[in-house]
Amino acid sequence: MTNNIISRVTTRRAYNGGDSGIPVKALLEELLILLGIFSIGDYIPWLKWVDKINSLDSRLKKVAKDLDAFLESAIRNKKAECSAGEAKDFVGVLLEIQDGKETGFPLQRDSLKAILLNSFAAGTDSIYTTLEWIMTELLMHPRAMETLQNEVRGLAQGKVEVTEDDLGNMHYLKAVIKETFRLHPPVPLLIPRESMEEVKLLGYHIPAKTQVIINAWTIGRDLFSWDDPEDYQQDKFLNSNIDFRGLNFELIPFRAGRRGCPAITFAIMVIEVTLAKIVHKFNFAKPVIVASSVNAARDIMKTNNLVWSNRPKCKMADRLLYDSKDVAFSPYGEYWRKIRSVTEKV
Ligand code: HEM
Repeated sequence: MTNNIISRVTTRRAYNGGDSGIPVKALLEELLILLGIFSIGDYIPWLKWVDKINSLDSRLKKVAKDLDAFLESAIRNKKAECSAGEAKDFVGVLLEIQDGKETGFPLQRDSLKAILLNSFAAGTDSIYTTLEWIMTELLMHPRAMETLQNEVRGLAQGKVEVTEDDLGNMHYLKAVIKETFRLHPPVPLLIPRESMEEVKLLGYHIPAKTQVIINAWTIGRDLFSWDDPEDYQQDKFLNSNIDFRGLNFELIPFRAGRRGCPAITFAIMVIEVTLAKIVHKFNFAKPVIVASSVNAARDIMKTNNLVWSNRPKCKMADRLLYDSKDVAFSPYGEYWRKIRSVTEKV
């Protein structure tokens, strides 16, 4: 979904893996994996040869070539559309300012392709990871889910679709998003920065060319900034001015300062609209609990063992395992006891 949103915004096409003839989704997945890999040659130059023997170099070469073909075709298509007078998207705007008349500097073809790739690489993973964490937390906190559904459905009363215009008064929805960003920043270590000259950090002398990694994940759990930091408590944001736009350093999923994320407004809008649409239309009736303590495990698997002996219904198992007639997915009861006894004899 996020891949398609980003590609529609940038090129007005959905590159969901089929229609362009180029496996764009797989390519972008490989790109994100490669961007996250630690290249030993970057840190210890004389060990650069290691990147060759562990095939990092050849993977980089292949992805760069395939991505270039995709970006070239996107730009070619766009040029044809623009000359046919179609409305402009992100690529259309970049092409328009390419000659530098508006900006004061011309945009080389490679710069244009690199900027375009930024949107795909930085935009897709971060947005869908955030949405996945929000849904996970809501499923684990059914009362929060119910309050959010009541808010969204109340404000969107009578409407078939929730739109951007409805978001203004959805305070609970915004609180849920902030609390999820606090506990699960999608870019937990942000993007490294490097000092351009000697500088002091908390009284320590730091030489030029030192890398700094900011751990947003730990900061979101800081005992001095947050009460009960490990608990998911969205209500704390209902009467608080703390925001993630870079002024409150205890909540920095997008970072702050000069190199902060330029797409924060776009990203938040996509997350808010998508979440509002999901909870407006769907009911997630089944609560889920995650047991993470020894006492809870003992309670489930010993004290109330029988109560917890069923399996949740699973569509995949119904389809693939002959209507869940296997041992792992069949419901607890006479049939399961019989086939389980067969497996124990083997
Ligand atoms: C939930 C969504 C997102 C999160 C949490 C996020 C987070 C971040 C973070 C932490 C940085 C590093 C900032 C720094 O070093 O100070 C960053 C940079 C950046 N982000 Fe995002 N981002 C998101 C969505 C997007 C989207 C949708 C786009 C583009 C369509 C985007 C484009 C960029 C770019 C181009 C940079 C580099 C900025 C620079 O170095 O000057 N991001 N983002």
